[in-house]
Amino acid sequence: MTAPSEVGLDLGKGKGKGEAGLVAGSAAALTARGVCKKFGKVEVLKGIDLDVGAGEVVCLIGASGSGKTTLLRCLNQLETIDSGVVTIDGVPLGQRKGSDGTLRPSKPKEVAEMRKDIGFVFQRFNLWPQKTALENVALSPVLVRGVGKAEAEVRARGLLTRVGLADRMDAYPAKLSGGQQQRVAIARALAMQPKIMLFDEPTSALEPETVGEVLAVMRELAAEGMTMICVTHEMGFAREVADRVVMMDAGVVLEQGDPKTFFANPKEERTRRFLARVLDTGFGGPAAPGAPAGPTG
Ligand SMILES: Nc1ncnc2c1ncn2[C@@H]1O[C@H](COP(=O)(O)OP(=O)(O)OP(=O)(O)O)[C@@H](O)[C@H]1O
Ligand SMILES: [Mg+2]
Repeated sequence: MTAPSEVGLDLGKGKGKGEAGLVAGSAAALTARGVCKKFGKVEVLKGIDLDVGAGEVVCLIGASGSGKTTLLRCLNQLETIDSGVVTIDGVPLGQRKGSDGTLRPSKPKEVAEMRKDIGFVFQRFNLWPQKTALENVALSPVLVRGVGKAEAEVRARGLLTRVGLADRMDAYPAKLSGGQQQRVAIARALAMQPKIMLFDEPTSALEPETVGEVLAVMRELAAEGMTMICVTHEMGFAREVADRVVMMDAGVVLEQGDPKTFFANPKEERTRRFLARVLDTGFGGPAAPGAPAGPTG
């Protein structure tokens, strides 16, 4: 299967690239301040600060267990945070401004409302097995956004075409390759017209030959201005597509920077060791004995 050359999602936002931090002139689409999360006694996130500008692509990297998935799940309110604040377009997640201006905890309905603005693409697709590709993409807008069935189907057909699956719309997930399933999952997330897309290692469960087609769709999305946070081990993708690379280590943001500077000159020893493992560049010497062989990007 060849990668779709033209995803053409027409998100209507251009952007400049290449600077560390927020894309010049853009407002923060998402901010995290002092985000902490414990599971039992284990502190998994230890005060995360992160700003993501509108239209910015942030690649989140770091060793297994450093807290990347937990951070994404907290940003999407799949987990509640213990302390700190996350805002989407300036509105704090899980809190709501009362008429007197004070903040109070959101009701579950309000949480669900805000979650609609955040698309989440999981490592393992999470498609409904009993629904066709088309139904997988068309269903949520009907159930959650109140879109009419006919309109949702037209949009779903458009999205599936754009991710290169025009000829597979009626297939059930079990009849699709991993790469195709993941493209359905991306189309499904986009069908909700999210403000931000979160990707949690979207290619790590794929056969190597289908990784490229999923990265191609993500690359198109990025080029068309989608705000994205991507947890990835695809360092080639991060280098080429990210505006900023953020390295997590043991529940903190260890360092971050524009990809060129970040990969050429990582400041922290732990970053160098991590990159040495995943890139085999020789940063920081050979991988530690017993270290898992990282996928190359
Ligand atoms: N629901 C949970 N209950 C208890 N501990 C958890 C839970 N989810 C994650 N953890 C722990 O939190 C830590 C961070 O996990 P997380 O999945 O966020 O790491 P990660 O950086 O995404 O790792 P990987 O690269 O392997 O996906 C790990 O020690 C993990 O065991
Ligand atoms: Mg993870």
